[in-house]
Amino acid sequence: KPNGLAQTPPMGWNSWNKFACNVNEKVIRDTADAIASNGMKDAGYEYVVIDDCWHGARNADGFITEDRTRFPSGIKALADYVHSKGLKFGIYSDAGTKTCGGRPGSQGHEYQDALQYARWGVDYLKYDWCSTGVRNAEEAYALMADALKASGRPILFSLCEWGNSKPWLWASNIGNMWRTTGDITDKWQGKYNYSWGVASIVDMNEPLWPYAGPGHWNDPDMLEVGNGGLSDVEYRAHFSLWAMMAAPLIAGNDVANMNEATRDILLNKEVIAVDQDRLGKQGHRVARNGDQEIWSKPMADGGRALLFWNRGEAPARIEAKWEQLGLPGRLALRVRDLWAHKDLGRKKTGFAADVAPHGVVMVRLQP
Ligand code: DGJ
Repeated sequence: KPNGLAQTPPMGWNSWNKFACNVNEKVIRDTADAIASNGMKDAGYEYVVIDDCWHGARNADGFITEDRTRFPSGIKALADYVHSKGLKFGIYSDAGTKTCGGRPGSQGHEYQDALQYARWGVDYLKYDWCSTGVRNAEEAYALMADALKASGRPILFSLCEWGNSKPWLWASNIGNMWRTTGDITDKWQGKYNYSWGVASIVDMNEPLWPYAGPGHWNDPDMLEVGNGGLSDVEYRAHFSLWAMMAAPLIAGNDVANMNEATRDILLNKEVIAVDQDRLGKQGHRVARNGDQEIWSKPMADGGRALLFWNRGEAPARIEAKWEQLGLPGRLALRVRDLWAHKDLGRKKTGFAADVAPHGVVMVRLQP
């Protein structure tokens, strides 16, 4: 049944967090150019995804068309352009009658839409949950999964029903990733209308770690790194936490116009390697003491990635003992700092990190 895609968490870019409904073909082309030339493609970013608001009306036969004002060359030409850069192309629809942005949804047109996407050369579908009325989520997503399969083209399927009906319990044979929360917003923590700050999203996604694995991932929403609402220290924490949670790494900033600090975060290959580790285990919190947390993620090489997270307002020294992590208490493990890019030598009983307020220290332990 599963399509065999997303054996490691999907990586790419999506238009929503930065551009919302202000999408057009120039934004997508400029983004594809940037990803192909700024190091992101080499680092693993692959899918270029247009979110809501690309749609025009359905034609007389019921097929979906593009908004010709925003996409005068058409979606097919845009998909070809993205492919010509060695990247993959993604699009967005909705399981209801209308998308959240009020464009036509796929309800009642599932097979027709999947066929149209395949003809255009779509490689990835994000499928939203607005205007769905009394629809049953499992039924609605299984129907579109079947339509995608019938299209004959391998299309990664990204579920976006915000965790309402606990997709982690039923979606692993339907989709490749499922949103576990409402929308992320470019703030540190708390709830804002229908969206949540980064730390709040983390707390909702963390307990779901047993449900993630190759081909089917928990999705705590797209990255806000580089969108300006957080400090670079906080963005490093955001990116590190997504990697520890084996989350899809879908950049959500203007990658054609980003500063060096943002680029250094999105392109940290050692942190990306933790996210993309082929064992495919989602890491999680193993110790918490007030604002100080220790997270661990088992790695394919038998080692661990460890994250020391200081959620508080004052600098903190956070110490992990190997025993606490279920490792032999006196094992000399090699420790490498993944943000300083430095080997810290062998440590016999544990490791202590000095962590800035809202910051992280992320290390890899190897035998
Ligand atoms: C709600 C989703 O959760 C967002 O990620 C985005 O796709 C918007 N809808 C688009 O309207």
